Amino acid sequence: MELLEAIRGRYTADAFGEEAPPRDVIELLIECAVWAPNHQLTEPWTFHVVAGQAREEMGQVLVEWLKGTHPSTPDQEALDQASRTAMRSPVMIAVGQTVDPEGEAVRDLEDYAACCAAVQNLMLAAHAEGLVTKWGTGRTSRNSALKEFLGLTERDRIVGYIFLGYPAEEPPSDRERTPPKISWQGL
Ligand SMILES: Cc1cc2nc3c(=O)[nH]c(=O)nc-3n(C[C@H](O)[C@H](O)[C@H](O)COP(=O)(O)O)c2cc1C
Repeated sequence: MELLEAIRGRYTADAFGEEAPPRDVIELLIECAVWAPNHQLTEPWTFHVVAGQAREEMGQVLVEWLKGTHPSTPDQEALDQASRTAMRSPVMIAVGQTVDPEGEAVRDLEDYAACCAAVQNLMLAAHAEGLVTKWGTGRTSRNSALKEFLGLTERDRIVGYIFLGYPAEEPPSDRERTPPKISWQGL
C-alpha cells in the first residue's frame, strides 16, 4: 500500500473479528514501530502483547484492583466492564515508555513523543497489512497492578493500549479533519 494512502486511510476501529493476526505479522508491526525517530536513540519503548486467555487474566487483574481500591463495593457493571477491558479485540499491544527516574523532564517529553511516533508507525503498518487498530488510554494506563501484569515497573508509563485485529465492519464514511492552521513565512 502506498504511504499517503495508508496515512489517510487508517482509522480507529470499533469492531474486530475474532481471529488473531499471526505472531510473525505482529512482530512485523513492532519492527516497523521501532523505526520511529527517537532523540539520542534512547529507544524508550517496550511492547506487551496480550492475546487469548491472557486477555481474561488481564481483565481479572483489573477486577481485583477495582474491588481493592473502590471506597464502596463497585457495581457489577463496572466489574463486568473491567473484566472485558482486553476482550474487545483478539490481540492487544500495550506500548510502554521506560522512564528514567533520574532523567530530565525534557528527556521524558522527548521519549514520550518518540513512543507516540512508534504507535503511529505500528498502526500504519497494521493498516497496510489489512488490519485495524484502536488506540486506547484512560485511567487504567496509570494502574500499578496492570503495569505489574504487563511486566512494566511502577515508574514506567503506558503510552497506549493498541487493540488489533481484522476488520469486522466497513470503515467509517464520516471521518474528517478541519483544514490545518498553517503559518507561512518565506514561501
Ligand atoms: C493518545 C490517544 C488516546 C486515545 N484514547 C482513546 C480512548 O481511550 N478511547 C477511544 O475510543 N479512542 C481513543 N483514541 C482514538 C481517538 O479517539 C481517534 O484517533 C480519533 O477519534 C480520530 O479518529 P481516527 O483515528 O479514525 O482518525 C485515542 C487516540 C490517541 C492519540
